[in-house]
Amino acid sequence: MPGSELFGAEERKEVMDVLETGIMFRYNHDQPRKGIWKAREFEKELADFVGAKYAHVVSSGSTAVATMMAACGVGTGDEVIVPAFTYIATIEGALFNGALPIFAEIDDTLCLSPEGIRAAITPKTKAVMLVQMCGAMARMDEIVALCKEHNLILMEDTAQALGASYKGKALGLYGAMGTYSFDFFKIITAGEGGGIVTNDEQLYRNADMYSDHGHDHIGDNRGMENHPVLGFNYRISELHAAVGLAQLRKINHLLQTNKKNKKVLKDALSKYPQITFRFLPDPEGDSATFLSFFMPTEELARTTAREFGKAGIGVNYWYDNNYHYIRNWEHLKEMKTLAKIPVELLGSRQDLKTLHLPQSDLIIGRLISIGIRVSWSEEDLQSIINKMDTILKEVLA
Ligand SMILES: Cc1ncc(COP(=O)(O)O)c(C=O)c1O
Repeated sequence: MPGSELFGAEERKEVMDVLETGIMFRYNHDQPRKGIWKAREFEKELADFVGAKYAHVVSSGSTAVATMMAACGVGTGDEVIVPAFTYIATIEGALFNGALPIFAEIDDTLCLSPEGIRAAITPKTKAVMLVQMCGAMARMDEIVALCKEHNLILMEDTAQALGASYKGKALGLYGAMGTYSFDFFKIITAGEGGGIVTNDEQLYRNADMYSDHGHDHIGDNRGMENHPVLGFNYRISELHAAVGLAQLRKINHLLQTNKKNKKVLKDALSKYPQITFRFLPDPEGDSATFLSFFMPTEELARTTAREFGKAGIGVNYWYDNNYHYIRNWEHLKEMKTLAKIPVELLGSRQDLKTLHLPQSDLIIGRLISIGIRVSWSEEDLQSIINKMDTILKEVLA
């Protein structure tokens, strides 16, 4: 979680700017806030960094996904194609807008595959929620073409891939809209926070309204202006925006250091012919937050991940964890929710209890990801390599 490793004087300064005025609300209070507008500044710098015409920041990556769904007009009665390897927020974002998530296969990019998407399309398919998993990209050319061919809205859940790009264009800008997360574990953190980017003015306005009870924010008095639609409170606070702003200013350093550290570990693992790596359609555009590789079998992957963990190497074996793969999402399979959404209307096309995604299982079962850290010294990296070598020589013997 690189961003949180670089927490320092810059974050404290931005937060103190807010605390000195005491204005933690992102709108109004023009006089006492003395020109301090952290959310606005964060949005401007995020748009510049990504190369988007518009950026809007909200309270989390999850509320960003929910806002994107609403802004794009995807909801009740619509099928949305999603991957089974993501964070549950992607799925909740679809469900709580009334849409039906339809699970499709991923490929060796760790993201939805073009063939998987094609196989999942029905006359009710309205959108594809492409999750750019573990810091890098899907097969973008094919997926963008497929969405055009079938007139589907492409939405990018880029929560894990701020700073990643494909052929020079930021992930998040390939779809109608894209979202980012600034939670504590991401490349930059605001503590909690999320971002939404788009080049479409109407979609931006929709997101801006929806995330603040439908207020249109036209004029200089939020509250007295129009509220053309209903929405909800997904606003970010000035305190969180202040932290996010300081972190965003460090992102180029974070990306460079990630790439350097990842290369050292990838080179070290490359000498094992049994190990293969996640396919990156554009390696230059990788944000390098993870080094993701495949072991020859599920059993070897599980053993290796366990031994790496015991040796103090920060790894994820996603197949067994509770968070990122459908295998352990019992709450979803049973459609258990406290919200009284009409679950009987959902889940009709795919029976989630019996749903089998053989290709995704094969990929995730053999996958290990090492979280790249920005604070590693050369000695730290060498020590990790030594530990990996000791373990791999035994495991792969
Ligand atoms: C793919 C994906 N989408 C959405 C989210 C939700 O972001 P947040 O934790 O900021 O709500 C996450 C968080 O891990 C994520 O990985």
